[in-house]
This record gives sequence, structure tokens and C-alpha cells, in this order.
Amino acid sequence: GRPDPCIMVLFGATGDLAQRKLFPALFELARQRLLPQHFAVVAFSRSEHNLEQFRAQVKEGLKKFARTQPLDEATWELLSSKLDMMTGAYDDPASYQRLREHLERIGERFGTQGNQLYYLATPASTFPSLLEGLSGSGLLYRENPEVKRPWRRLVIEKPFGRDLTTAKELNRSLAAVLDEKQIFRIDHYLGKETVQNILVFRFANAIFEPLWNRQHIDHVEITAAEKIGVEGRGRFYDETGVIRDMVQNHLLQVLALCAMEPPVSFAAEDIRDEKNKVFRALRPMVGSEVEKYVVQGQYRGYREEQGVGKDSRTPTYVALKTYIDTWRWQGVPFYVRAGKSLSKRVTEVSIHYKSVPHCLFNTSDTCQRLQPNVLTLRIQPREGIALSFESKVPGEDINIAGVTMDFDYANSFHKPVPEAYERLMLDCMRGNTTLFARQDSVEQAWAWVTPIIDSLDSGKGGALHTYEPGSAGPDAAAALLSRDGRRWMELK
Ligand code: BG6
Repeated sequence: GRPDPCIMVLFGATGDLAQRKLFPALFELARQRLLPQHFAVVAFSRSEHNLEQFRAQVKEGLKKFARTQPLDEATWELLSSKLDMMTGAYDDPASYQRLREHLERIGERFGTQGNQLYYLATPASTFPSLLEGLSGSGLLYRENPEVKRPWRRLVIEKPFGRDLTTAKELNRSLAAVLDEKQIFRIDHYLGKETVQNILVFRFANAIFEPLWNRQHIDHVEITAAEKIGVEGRGRFYDETGVIRDMVQNHLLQVLALCAMEPPVSFAAEDIRDEKNKVFRALRPMVGSEVEKYVVQGQYRGYREEQGVGKDSRTPTYVALKTYIDTWRWQGVPFYVRAGKSLSKRVTEVSIHYKSVPHCLFNTSDTCQRLQPNVLTLRIQPREGIALSFESKVPGEDINIAGVTMDFDYANSFHKPVPEAYERLMLDCMRGNTTLFARQDSVEQAWAWVTPIIDSLDSGKGGALHTYEPGSAGPDAAAALLSRDGRRWMELK
């Protein structure tokens, strides 16, 4: 059913994320009549805008970024009638007082029954003053099951802190004001259909899970390659870098879903418990290991991007090798890479099975060419799952060639795959935390990446390789695998 009536209070409503992802998601939910019947969005903006300007700006963004084009006018009328805004300062208590009064009026007008969802789509540096303002004014409060009051939820965008220390501080300030159930730490990868499908694939089928372990799997590769560069986000990106931007959150979450043990149920806390165990079991990289197991790169031309330092050492590419120290995964390397300005956009996980124990096909040539099976979970684009295996080429002789069994979402379901933010926004309104990062796992993930980032920053973690835009990344990344007699999937 439809979520509870509520107001979404949006901070950062004129920013890049709101324009590219949040409003398009709200628009799509409105189009499918999935928003609460009694609903409003109040944008809290630091710059002076009037409501008409703001609506026009949102509409312009939707024309570019909404999933269904051309824009459906009736849906736009519906969404636009629910958009509202007010201007204020993040560090000014009087602004929160005005926000409070404003929300009361909007609540009455739209019949939202006092429920409020605060969405922080602002830079991480603003979180402390926002939290203080919202709790100081009584807008945010801890829910107590004994006392019936309208609900309060807080959605917080990444990056969640800069390192382990700042993430812990942020978690502490959140916990001082809210119960964990009220906190939604967004990681939009968890909202992707294909990422959610990892658990369904593993646990709704009987034939894969028995092979999902060190006895049968040789190694696992996770790739998130992007074609785009930093695209107008230079200032943000230069302070962030690829490990904070992609690895600490998105890729470790995907890795956890692939590597976790079966949860006792599909309930939020059961899944989150199992994922957390994976984060705890990630083998820490210490001292010279960073140089050995991590390759960092920066694309040529990055330093000329707007907002980027002329002598910036921020990596836009990383490739690394890690292990998960558990019974299931002992000795199985997980190779992870992510980068911008590469030859193509592709995010996928590939599970590489072991070779056959003994080759029967007499010519040594055939035996050498036998390829191990690879199961590929294609997260994007061309969402799907493929299994490669060897097959006899028709004819008298035994000639063998690789073939694939391929499942493609578009062909099987004949409907577009929803955007991650659509699902995640609905889940916030429904109070379902399953697809959000929990306090402990965010900290575990930071605990693992922080020493790596520190070592790279201090120059002890090895060279920063330059790579050509449109290439497959630095050669050193290929060497990381070839040393082990392996190869990355090709980025053709
Ligand atoms: C965001 C990062 O979280 O994820 C961006 O900040 C990156 O730098 C984006 O481009 C990738 O998301 P997607 O959904 O396009 O794979």
C-alpha cells in the first residue's frame, strides 16, 4: 500500500543530487501513484528563491533527468502542487523556529498528520549544524514505542564521514538524537534492483549456493567502471577520491551481499547482521601491504577539471586485492576496482570458478584453451546474469568453445528497471531500513578503508599512476592480477 502521510523536508534541494536523482525519483513515484496520498516536499534553501522559480528549476531538471520522457504534464501538476520551500540558514536557531511553524501550516494544509522525513542531501560538512538545529528546535526527536507521537526519520547522504573517526563522531551525534530505526544512511547501490537480486539469486535457487565457496570458487572480481569524469563535481570529488566515493560504501556493500552467510530471515536486522560479519572479516591491510595490494590512478587531465587542485594527488581509480577471513572464503582473493574516465560504463560482479581437475580432451591445445566457468552478475548497464561454460563445437572432432547462458532483465520482464532512489525513498517513507547501512557496518567499512587511504595519502602506499581517459585504467592494475596468473574482465 501507499506509505503514511508525511512531509519530506529536503536540504540541498537545489543541488546536483536533487536535480539528477531525488526529484526524478519523486516524479516517477508520483507518476505511478506510489507517493503517500497526503504528502508535501518542503525544500529548505540557503539561497533566496521564490516558490515559482524553484518549481521552474525542478521542472527543468526533470526534463533532463526524469526516467519517462517526455514529461507527463498531469504528473508534473500533481508533484508541483506538493512542492513548497522556505529560505533559512543552517546555523541559525531562528530559521529552525520558522521551519517548525512553516511545517505546522503545511502539515495542516496537506493533511500529513505530523509525520516528517528529513532528507540531508547536502555536503557532509553541514551535517553537524543541521543536526543541532533540528534537534535543538525539537523538530527531530527520539521515538519511543510507549508514547504515540508522529514519526520522525532522517535520511543522510554519503559520504558518511571522511574516515573512521569522523564517521564515529557522526554516528554518536545521530545516536544522541535518534534511535537507529529512525536513521536511513543512504547507499544508493543497495536500492538497485540488480544488487537486491544478489540475495534472491543466491537464496531462492538451490543450485548455486552449494558451489558458493572456496572449494569451487577461484576468485571474485567486482568492477565499477565509469565513462564519465568528475563532471562539474570537481571540488567535491577532489576532497573525496575514489575510495571514499565508491569503495567504502557501494563496492563494499556489493561485496558483502556476495560474500555473506545465509541470514536467518529476510528481516532487516538479520540481513544487516550477516553483512556486518563480512565487514568484520575483511583482512586488514597493514604497512607495506597497501603498496602490494592496492593500485591507484588518476586520469590525465583530471587536474585541469574545475575545482580540482593543480597538483592534486586524489585518485580517480583504484584496484585492490583483498581476502575475507572466514571458513567459506579462506584463500579466495576478491579483486575490486573502480574508476572514472574509463573506456566504458559497467558495474558487475564476476565469480570465477576453478578449472576442471583433469582435462580429458587429448590435444594439449584444447586443454590449454579450456576456460573456467564464470558467473557474471551484471549490475549495469544491460542488467542481467550470465554463466559461461565450455561447449563442443559441432563437427567430427572434439573442438571446444566458450558459450554463455544469459538472463537479461529487459527481455525477461519487459519493463524498465526502476531507479534505485525510487525504491529507497519509498522505503524511508515506509520505515523499512533493510536497504540502508547500519551504524556498525559503516564503521567497520571505514575501519578497513581508513588505513588504506592514510597510507596512500602519506605516499607510502605506492605511486599514483596516470592513465589515459577512455582507457581501461593504469597498467599496474593489470599487473596486480597477472602476478597471480589472472586477468580482469576486459573493459571493451
Ligand atoms: C555516486 C558517486 O555515489 O555514485 C559518483 O558519488 C558515481 O561519483 C555514482 O558516479 C555512480 O552511481 P551509478 O548509479 O551511476 O553507478
